[in-house]
Amino acid sequence: MKKVLLTGGAGFIGSHVADLLLGRGCELTVLDNLSFGRREHVPAQARFLQMDLADRAGVMECFQAGFDTVVHLAAIHFIPYCNQHPDLACRTNVEGTQNIFDAAQSSGTVQRLFTASTAAVYPDCAGPIDETVARGPMDVYGMTKSANEEQAAILARRSSIHVSVGRFFNAVGGRETNPHLVPDILQRLKKSNTIEIGNTTPKRDYIDVRDMASGVMAMLEGNQSSIDTCNIGTGEVYDVAEIAAFISEIHGAPIELQPVERLIRKVERQNLQADSRRLQTRYGWKPKYSVQDSMRYAHEWYTNL
Ligand SMILES: NC(=O)c1ccc[n+]([C@@H]2O[C@H](COP(=O)([O-])OP(=O)(O)OC[C@H]3O[C@@H](n4cnc5c(N)ncnc54)[C@H](O)[C@@H]3O)[C@@H](O)[C@H]2O)c1
Repeated sequence: MKKVLLTGGAGFIGSHVADLLLGRGCELTVLDNLSFGRREHVPAQARFLQMDLADRAGVMECFQAGFDTVVHLAAIHFIPYCNQHPDLACRTNVEGTQNIFDAAQSSGTVQRLFTASTAAVYPDCAGPIDETVARGPMDVYGMTKSANEEQAAILARRSSIHVSVGRFFNAVGGRETNPHLVPDILQRLKKSNTIEIGNTTPKRDYIDVRDMASGVMAMLEGNQSSIDTCNIGTGEVYDVAEIAAFISEIHGAPIELQPVERLIRKVERQNLQADSRRLQTRYGWKPKYSVQDSMRYAHEWYTNL
């Protein structure tokens, strides 16, 4: 890996992957339209292209730089936003991804490509989910990412690129750009210790964003097959009350959760828990940070905002 294109590198996970790529001595180009990401998240050593994935001609042209590796993370990611803007979600996540894949294939220089999928491609499952469970997305976002997995399979079949697909579970830490549970609680805590909340029972597999980034690198560097798909999660799940309790301990003040009808999502999985043995056994990946570490990192970042 020498010349790397990272899409979505101004975002939450992408900026952490950028840190690791630069640490490996890569010459890094970040492509991002800054719709959700922030320019200041992009490390100064990276070349920055403010570009939309939907700009097919622009994307094709930028591959003339001769990248050997692509990490494709740019997407519209927040589930309620995707449900409200299905056209934009499809244009960005599906059409935009096709532009990146086509450009990578026709470049003739790209040897490795990582693309971000999600736990949201899975159906509701009681226990840990492994990669053999058939996809069953329940929302627009999951549908677009499920389509990305089909697109990745076609790219792998029609090229000699080593394609890696990471199914991300719930990342937590600093530089988060979307109002997910943890940043939402931290943001509201600035005004009040009583937090209005929707569904409190769903359990999620929270993974430190730095461990997510190391999972991306493990697949990118280690995948020798035409295509491989791995969950990237810890295998531990927590519900909303448990997460609030962790934050309350770090914050040093009690948090009162106040369930509110209007915030309840009608379609919600009760449990999303990774079986990450494939990533661990094939690539030797292990999470380094505990759930409390990731909350501490997020808390520190939000307090200094
Ligand atoms: N955060 C999580 O817990 C999580 C879970 C599952 C999957 N993912 C996936 O991981 C990837 C990164 O997610 P994240 O949490 O860092 O989100 P993010 O929103 O912080 O990062 C996505 C980046 O893509 C950029 N972007 C969006 N539309 C674009 C477009 N049309 N052209 C160019 N750039 C565009 C945004 O500006 C942003 O910087 C996404 O593909 C997301 O679907 C994230």
